[in-house]
Amino acid sequence: MAKFWKPGTEKPRLVEDEDGGVVFFYSSSSSSSSGFGYSNNIESQRRRLPVYKLKDAILFLVENHATTVVVGETGSGKTTQIPQYLNEAGWADGGHVIACTQPRRLAVQSVALRVAEEMGVRLGEEVGYVIRFEDVTTLGVTRIKFLTDGVLLREMMDDPLLSKYSVIMIDEAHERSISTDIVLGLLKKIQRRRPELRLVISSATIEAKSIASFFRGSKKHRGTGDKLEPNTEPAIISVEGRGFNVEINYVQEPVSDYLRAAVSTVIMIHKQKTVGDILVFLTGQDDIEAAVQLLNEEAQSFDKSTGELLVLRLYSGLPRTEQDFVLSPTPRGKRKAIISTNIAETSLTLEGIVYVVDSGFSKQRFYDPMSDIENLVVAPISRASARQRAGRAGRVRPGKCYRLYTEEYYVNKMSAEGIPEMQRSTLVSCVIQLKALGIDNILGFDWLASPSPEAMIRALEVLYSLNVLDDDAKLTSPTGFQVAEIPLDPMLSKAILASNELGCSEEMLTIAAVLSVQSIWISVRGAQKQLDEAKLRFAAAEGDHVTFLNVYKGFLQSGKSSKWCQKHFVNYHAMKKVLEAREQLNRTAQRLGMMLKSCDRDIQAVRKAITAGFFANACHLEAYSHEGKYKTVRTSQDVYIHPSSVLFRVNPKWVVYHSLVSTDRRYMRNVVKIDPSWLVEVAPHFFQFLETSKLSNSTSDFAV
Ligand code: CDP
Ligand code: MG
Repeated sequence: MAKFWKPGTEKPRLVEDEDGGVVFFYSSSSSSSSGFGYSNNIESQRRRLPVYKLKDAILFLVENHATTVVVGETGSGKTTQIPQYLNEAGWADGGHVIACTQPRRLAVQSVALRVAEEMGVRLGEEVGYVIRFEDVTTLGVTRIKFLTDGVLLREMMDDPLLSKYSVIMIDEAHERSISTDIVLGLLKKIQRRRPELRLVISSATIEAKSIASFFRGSKKHRGTGDKLEPNTEPAIISVEGRGFNVEINYVQEPVSDYLRAAVSTVIMIHKQKTVGDILVFLTGQDDIEAAVQLLNEEAQSFDKSTGELLVLRLYSGLPRTEQDFVLSPTPRGKRKAIISTNIAETSLTLEGIVYVVDSGFSKQRFYDPMSDIENLVVAPISRASARQRAGRAGRVRPGKCYRLYTEEYYVNKMSAEGIPEMQRSTLVSCVIQLKALGIDNILGFDWLASPSPEAMIRALEVLYSLNVLDDDAKLTSPTGFQVAEIPLDPMLSKAILASNELGCSEEMLTIAAVLSVQSIWISVRGAQKQLDEAKLRFAAAEGDHVTFLNVYKGFLQSGKSSKWCQKHFVNYHAMKKVLEAREQLNRTAQRLGMMLKSCDRDIQAVRKAITAGFFANACHLEAYSHEGKYKTVRTSQDVYIHPSSVLFRVNPKWVVYHSLVSTDRRYMRNVVKIDPSWLVEVAPHFFQFLETSKLSNSTSDFAV
């Protein structure tokens, strides 16, 4: 492979830092004048990105070091440019592929599309992407492949050394998503077996330092720098962006309602401040929709002198057309207000943002191993996140950030850094994947951040009860290996396997596909009543899962019509995703040797199959409970049926649920009615005392 120092260019200055790691300093102080305005010339746009000046340096480091950590501000070109540089330098020659992972699906699609555009190729050919249930690549043709780190993890099951990749870029590593952490741990192992593999780890913050030291080999080994024996010391390179100053404003008194505070701040900016788009960080689809509606209402009362405000929403799962609109340039004379989740913090680059409104919150996963509940809750962000958010305002010119919390809170109360997702999630999927990769000593695994022992024990218990792990905590054969093969939560995978024996696999695959999309219903604010009525047309007395089957059947009978969907408040885009997911699951099932079969009207078989996967989520109605209070069998907690369920207020005696959400109470979402005798039938070891207690409502003597 060629060296990348061209004669006449400035040689990079390599500086050893105190720990012996090679740090490469580079200051891109020379002026780059991008500013507003969009050039049609993609090539000149590419050259203006801060990362461009480091192209040779990055290629030099990748060639000579097994691991290169690239730190750089959002928008500096890390994601879109580095894979292209690697491709131009020949890393995808000879049938090799350059991989670039993202924690988020939306980011995978959006950057793949952008890179394909820049290279002037059709998406799915030289440049492609893979997310769960969607593979847009061509074998033997695709050279740059974007994928979620979850998908990369799955690929290791078929190809443990990831041998088709010459370079793997783990992007957005600072996010410390659970899959990123696992992938980094595994890549460190793979590197020992494949010295020719190169890793590029990119991060928006100095989190990079701890990641680099994680990759530092135990033995100091300086390779010869040739392709097969690179230096194992990680290199760190920092891309200095052209970030402009951002003026930070705090509220004087704590706000009680961040949503309203965000809305009034947007209105204030729009009325008082000069041109420039506004980016608002809220937490999730619900509060985003609410804010969009409030803003649109306010905008009605603007007088003529106030310019037009385009209120847009941004979150994962947004239909493609809307997403494109968010990313496209603002029409002249108008101002965009983009109301977003955390996704705009670092994953996506939005051009033209001058004002940022930061609620100080994001939706985060929290898992409590004691109650075994994992919830997405609205929680305060860290100072590192707050700084990232503010930085979004300074991309095109000096900007302003409005923090909806006090300076005192920022300085004294906010935690400096977030907790890695690994330490606040259920580990069931993580454990099964590591086991499937032959890593038996999970506690001894080289973790970037150690998971909690309680969460680990709980995960082992769940997998043991599902008969996925045996007494020695090894994957059972075939069940354990089959469950690991299906890209779903192990409980759902287990239900699919059970459906094979119960003769209802067609139905179970449909249910699994529906459960893997966010919601198949259209949620329109203020139209709750119509939605409830529409749901009623499909409602099944047996529960939500059976209701899904009715919707799916109706959709197929309509010829997959979007008109039909609209009429019935069914989300057409979601249904299309269901079809794709089902198709993929179908293929997986066939690979596992399942015979697809329909049970026609024998819905009992379907409910039994669900029970076989979700028996640990069994609940019974409290006797004399007028308000529909249930107790979970395993932990005797109070839970209620969620108002969105078709079984809300129906309250059958025994149910199993798919998931729990906590708001004012713990609500079961997606509930199905069961017969308690099935519990003993499908999981005798789990409910060994159930029979002796004669299915009484006492749960004290249930063994787990
Ligand atoms: O990864 P990093 O945040 O460093 O930057 P990037 O995502 O590679 O973005 C580099 C440039 O490409 C930015 O100026 C973006 O505006 C542009 N870009 C785009 O126009 N469309 C995309 N889907 C992604 C990036
Ligand atoms: Mg990026």
